[in-house]
Amino acid sequence: MLTILHHAAQLVGIAAAGECSVLANGSLLIRNGIIEWAGPAAEMPPITEDERDITWIDAQGKVVLPGFIDSHTHLLFAGSRVDEFEQRLRGMSYAEIMARGGGILRTVERVRRASKEELKALARPRLQRMLQFGVTTIEVKSGYGLTPADEIKCLEAIAELNAEGPWELVPTFLGAHAVPPEYRSNREGYIRSLCETMLPEIARRGLADFCDVFCEKDVFSIDESRRILKRARDLGLRLKLHADELSPLGGAELAAEMEATSADHLLCISDQGIDALAASGTVATLLPGTAFFLGRAYAPARRLIERGVTVALASDCNPGTCMTENLPLIGSMACMQMGMSPGEVVTALTRHAAAALARSDRLGSLAPGKQGDGIVCNVPDYREIFYHFGINHVECILKRGRVVHTS
Ligand code: NIG
Ligand code: FE
Repeated sequence: MLTILHHAAQLVGIAAAGECSVLANGSLLIRNGIIEWAGPAAEMPPITEDERDITWIDAQGKVVLPGFIDSHTHLLFAGSRVDEFEQRLRGMSYAEIMARGGGILRTVERVRRASKEELKALARPRLQRMLQFGVTTIEVKSGYGLTPADEIKCLEAIAELNAEGPWELVPTFLGAHAVPPEYRSNREGYIRSLCETMLPEIARRGLADFCDVFCEKDVFSIDESRRILKRARDLGLRLKLHADELSPLGGAELAAEMEATSADHLLCISDQGIDALAASGTVATLLPGTAFFLGRAYAPARRLIERGVTVALASDCNPGTCMTENLPLIGSMACMQMGMSPGEVVTALTRHAAAALARSDRLGSLAPGKQGDGIVCNVPDYREIFYHFGINHVECILKRGRVVHTS
């Protein structure tokens, strides 16, 4: 099977390292789902295939990029929290709402009542919307079940949705998202359930690539987070951490210490936290949509980049702190609110996001040998995607070399 994207005004993100590469009048050859060649249209190697076996895509006047990767979402959930949205608009903070029994635990109630099939049916349109915005790989966290059976129900739903495709899903176990009400006076009991019941079964069944913890004041402390992450690491899972989101607890330092693949959020990261990430190679995943939605100060993207930290961007799509599937809009927020250049944003949504999912070997660029995940945007210059914001410019989506959506 051969797919040829021909004569793109710009072919963006061929380079597997360095700054965002932009090639004018480029073509791309994808054979059997893998990128075989990318370069100037005039230098395309001769094709010997029968014409009937080739899918030609004319990209004249358009931009071709690697499929976007959303490396941090909580999109498997039931119920709306629009009432909390309004409470926040009237001045109540996310932490106050949580302290009054709102927040994550309200979604937990709804998810516990939902069947696996119901959760899948609710997630599909969200995944479809993400795909339409050019997102071909999506990390999805559990964390709204908080019992062994409900967490496993969620992870099984993610596995089944992944098998349906055309999206590629990366499952993360976030059992340490909150202490559930039945353990309110027995946190130790819940942490034991995480470490001794849930994590071993999830690892044995291969239901999650990553283990994540919401390390936050009044949620899981640094010491509790370390204990859970250690157990996950010993069981062979890779690590992520919700770090320094609402308060400067030292989550970034813990992520670096634990050699986590990524430290996420970082709205309140300290200078020591930035140094720790720079020294460790842990990816900083920034989620400006959450700062926007909560009306908080943005993460210090420029300082992170200047210190040499690998910065990825993701949506955080969830009902409480960022209710959107529009990843390119997140890219516009990164430009306008965090001072990232459009080139840095493309890299953060592709190559660095692949690194945040430990899938750099296959994903994140249009380099030969990588998976044939690409998008065609109906703009002549990639910077238009973020400049002309809030609009969907994606016209054609390829996953593993196959056209999976056109508009
Ligand atoms: O990433 N911080 C923890 N988890 C989510 C919010 C989840 C929710 O409010 O339902 C976040 O912001
Ligand atoms: Fe999150």
